[in-house]
Amino acid sequence: MELIPVEFGNRSYTIEIEAGSLVRTGKFLRKCVGDQSVKVLIATTKTVAGLYLDTVREALVAEGFDVIDIIVPDGEEYKTLKTYENIVTKCIEARFERRSIIVPLGGGVIGDTAGFVAATLLRGVPFIQIPTTIVSQVDSSIGGKVAVNHSLGKNLIGSFYQPRGVLIDTKVLTTLEQREVISGMGEVVKHAVIRTAEFFTFLEEHIESIMRFEASDDVMERFIGWNCKIKAEVVSADEHESGLRAILNYGHTVGHALEAVTRYSRFKHGEAVILGMVAAGKIALDKGLMSETDFTRQNNLLNRVGISSDLTGIDIHDVLKAMTLDKKVIGGRLRFILPDSIGAVRIHNDVSDDEIKKSLSFLFNDFFAY
Ligand SMILES: NC(=O)c1ccc[n+]([C@@H]2O[C@H](COP(=O)([O-])OP(=O)(O)OC[C@H]3O[C@@H](n4cnc5c(N)ncnc54)[C@H](O)[C@@H]3O)[C@@H](O)[C@H]2O)c1
Ligand SMILES: [Zn+2]
Repeated sequence: MELIPVEFGNRSYTIEIEAGSLVRTGKFLRKCVGDQSVKVLIATTKTVAGLYLDTVREALVAEGFDVIDIIVPDGEEYKTLKTYENIVTKCIEARFERRSIIVPLGGGVIGDTAGFVAATLLRGVPFIQIPTTIVSQVDSSIGGKVAVNHSLGKNLIGSFYQPRGVLIDTKVLTTLEQREVISGMGEVVKHAVIRTAEFFTFLEEHIESIMRFEASDDVMERFIGWNCKIKAEVVSADEHESGLRAILNYGHTVGHALEAVTRYSRFKHGEAVILGMVAAGKIALDKGLMSETDFTRQNNLLNRVGISSDLTGIDIHDVLKAMTLDKKVIGGRLRFILPDSIGAVRIHNDVSDDEIKKSLSFLFNDFFAY
């Protein structure tokens, strides 16, 4: 078992990571919320409900909780005010009180949506995250960002609201589709490059066995643990995203542009981040920040993760245009997170158009031949 503390003063909590820990959900909740709370709403999605809802429900009932659930459809397109309202309605009908508990069980979509319900229902009720995708275990369940989408943009309606605890069962990852695994790995490699060389080396040793779920429970727990530790440290130092938290956007400047020009339909988010890290790495190399050795190590690891689509048919100029659009939004300067080495990055506002073009050209023409 790995225990990762997340420090937010009197709102601090612990992330518990253990293979097979879903059966301990009841005891974990008791530890997080005490004996007073009785009512629990599990909010989950169709796929996850079919796999894990019974286990979680039984574990909660065994600990004396009064359990209800709501099953929402799968997909980012359901991360809406409508789903939010359906969850709220279910809670009100069940006569939720201030100490009643919301438990999102699933990926980042349900975590963000049900987390936003927790932040706002009765001006805030406790919630416990049980993330079941790599993205949610290493990223979205940590840090307290909760939100739903608006038709004009993603995550536009939301809040910062910390859970009382996060319970991670690494065994549930074995039922993920391979593309979800790849996408999660984008954020994983990002964590290693921005903060921890030792974790990068760990990934170099274990990446295939992790992605095929052939790694031991111990390796899987350490793998998720590294990520949680890195993300927890960054968000604790900067809860409301005014400084350090920006380093979590490594690979996202080009990544977002690639998602935009392909209308969010070709790449999973983490795949776009993988491509964005290749471009950022090249800029760092050309600026003399990162060594050729580290640049190659990063590209080799990203290649081992692999992505399920290539860049065929995408016009570099469209990618540049999409980035310029971003530029206007953030006040005239594109912000890049660039590595000095594996494990250390800094924020840069001085990347020239020429450097960006060169990095895209490397990504489009050389990376896939690597
Ligand atoms: N709050 C944050 O800080 C933060 C950070 C990163 C991403 N996000 C958000 O997270 C969302 C993406 O999350 P995601 O990648 O987990 O997607 P997701 O929640 O859509 O889950 C992906 C798919 O996997 C299924 N699934 C979940 N667990 C499974 C399991 N164990 N076995 C089989 N199938 C399973 C889901 O039902 C879904 O169909 C986005 O909305 C993004 O905005 C938030
Ligand atoms: Zn991301």
